[in-house]
Formats: sequence, structure tokens, C-alpha cells
Amino acid sequence: MTLPSLKIGSVEVKSRVMLAPMAGITDVVLRQLIRKYSKNCLLTTEMISSEALMQKKGGEILEYKENEYPLAFQISGHKPFMMAKAAKMLSDRASIIDINMGCPVNKVVKGGDGSALMKTPELAADIVKAVKDATELPVSVKFRLGYTADTKNYMEFAKLMQDAGADAMTIHCRTRSQMYGGKADWSALSDIKKEISVPVFANGDIISPETAKECIETSNVDGVAVARGVLGHPDLIYRIEHYFETGKIIDSVDIKTRIELIKEHLNEEIKLRGELGGIRFTRKFYPFYIRGVHGAPALRHALVTEDSYDKIINILDSING
Ligand SMILES: Cc1cc2nc3c(=O)[nH]c(=O)nc-3n(C[C@H](O)[C@H](O)[C@H](O)COP(=O)(O)O)c2cc1C
Repeated sequence: MTLPSLKIGSVEVKSRVMLAPMAGITDVVLRQLIRKYSKNCLLTTEMISSEALMQKKGGEILEYKENEYPLAFQISGHKPFMMAKAAKMLSDRASIIDINMGCPVNKVVKGGDGSALMKTPELAADIVKAVKDATELPVSVKFRLGYTADTKNYMEFAKLMQDAGADAMTIHCRTRSQMYGGKADWSALSDIKKEISVPVFANGDIISPETAKECIETSNVDGVAVARGVLGHPDLIYRIEHYFETGKIIDSVDIKTRIELIKEHLNEEIKLRGELGGIRFTRKFYPFYIRGVHGAPALRHALVTEDSYDKIINILDSING
């Protein structure tokens, strides 16, 4: 199925697969590894707190490269004027401003941010309107099926967001109560395109070309957003795109290439965060990259406790599948 490009406001998006935001994960380094394979997918930064941005905190989160376009910067917060300011500040570098209305973490919802906005839909709409007024860029929203199983308001919420001016939406097919557990319910979205004309991306549990196809067929939406599936597999989005275009499955990269990708990941994180900062930051990725290799548990332990760059490289070089 060769699918035509999508238009998110004025931005043409040639791929039906996007990278979903992940805090502490989808930094410029990971996005570059994904872009190495997928030339067209919409990439998304991790969430950037509007309040932190006002205090000029942001640092590495704000780093990006020109080849990343189309690139959405995701902002979080609950104060319309502050979200508007944050959007304005990021407008010189973003293709799209994405608003986080899905984060389930206690610390975030306690302050009324993230998925708490699904409990205050009028405020969520005011945020979209304020952000739209503050920037010429298209504005997208990311939310869940609802806050709890008994309060699944995604349909009304989606309509409200569209009416407020949202140019696209990504829906994580879980409730806030589910956090990241249980199975994502793609079928919940099956009627949403009867009501919503802007592009809709379904999200949750897409880990392969086959699950991506099943998700799109079950949800009837325009595209899919992939988060955890890219961990250790920066080629996944490209493989899904290839499957959508040709109906053919290509294998994931072999272990030798994966080791080269880990080294690149590590080296680039060190450039971004300094030697020790980069080494420690990259630790969270090793288990995903080396999953399934011979002796993975011992290797994982060695990699996530080692502070010496040379020793880490030696461990990686010892891996041969
Ligand atoms: C470590 C981690 C960090 C995340 N950070 C964000 C974030 O900053 N903004 C956001 O909208 N969603 C965030 N998410 C949610 C993902 O974008 C996605 O909705 C969720 O993981 C379900 O998709 P998946 O099954 O493909 O992982 C995060 C998820 C994980 C696992």
C-alpha cells in the first residue's frame, strides 16, 4: 500500500510512521540514528517543560540538526500563556509544535500537566488556541484514551482539540491509569476518522512492521507513532515504512551493525554530554541493543557498571552474536 504524503498544517510529511517522544531517550543522538535509516519520518524531541524553558533550562534537550526535518518539538505544561511563550521560543527550530497531554507520571499530573489535561478539556483547548496564536507553525497534540477506564473521553477530546485548531494528533491507545502496562487498544480508534479530518497517528505497542500494519488496519487512522520499539532498533521506523510501501519485510540490521550503532550512540552522547556524562547516559540503551546476543546478562551488567570508555569499547568488541 503506497500511501500519499500527509499534510500537518503547512508541513508535508512523506512518511506514515513517526517517532513518538520519549523523555531522556529521543535526544538529537537517537534521532540522528533513526534518520540514518528513515529519511522522511516525522521525528519528535522529548518533552520540554514550558516552565523550565522560561528559566532558560533546556540544555541538551534543545539540540537538533538540520537533517532532522520534519521535526516536532514537544512542550509540556498547563498554563496557556507559558505554553504560548515556549512555542514562540521554539518556533525558530521546530517544524511542528507538539503538546504533551499524555504523560502519566505522578510528578507531572500532580501539577495539572500531561494526561491531567484530559480531565480539564477546556483548559487543554485553551492551550491549543494560545499556542496557535503564538506561532505560525502547525500544532499537534498527543493524548491517551482517557484518564481512567471509566472516563475514556478521547472522542470528545479529539473533536475539541481539532476545533481549537490542532493540525494533527497522536493517540496513545491506553488510559492514564494503565500507565505503560496492559495492551494498547488500537480498535478504540476505529471510528475516529469519521469525526476527525486532521491526521491521526495511533500509538502503543508497535514493535515490528507487522504490528504497525495491524495497528493501522485496526484503527483506520492515518499513521502510526513508535516509541519503545526503536530502542536498540533505530532501523525499525524505516523497516515499517518499507513494509508499508512494498509489502516486503526486511530483516533488522545484523549484530555487527548493531554494535557499530551502539558505539556511534555512545560517541555522540559523549560529544553532547562530556565523557562521563555520555558514558552514564548511554547505559540505559545497552540492554536493548544487546538483547538476544550470547551471554547478554553478563555483558549487560558489565556495560552498565563500567565508567571507562576503553573498557566499554573492549566489551562491545567482544560481542559476536
Ligand atoms: C521512557 C519513556 C519516556 C516517555 N516520554 C514521553 C514524553 O516525553 N512525551 C510523551 O508524549 N510521551 C512520552 N512517552 C510515551 C511514548 O511516547 C508512548 O506514548 C508510549 O511509550 C507508548 O508507545 P510504545 O508502546 O510505542 O512505547 C514516554 C515513554 C517512555 C517509555
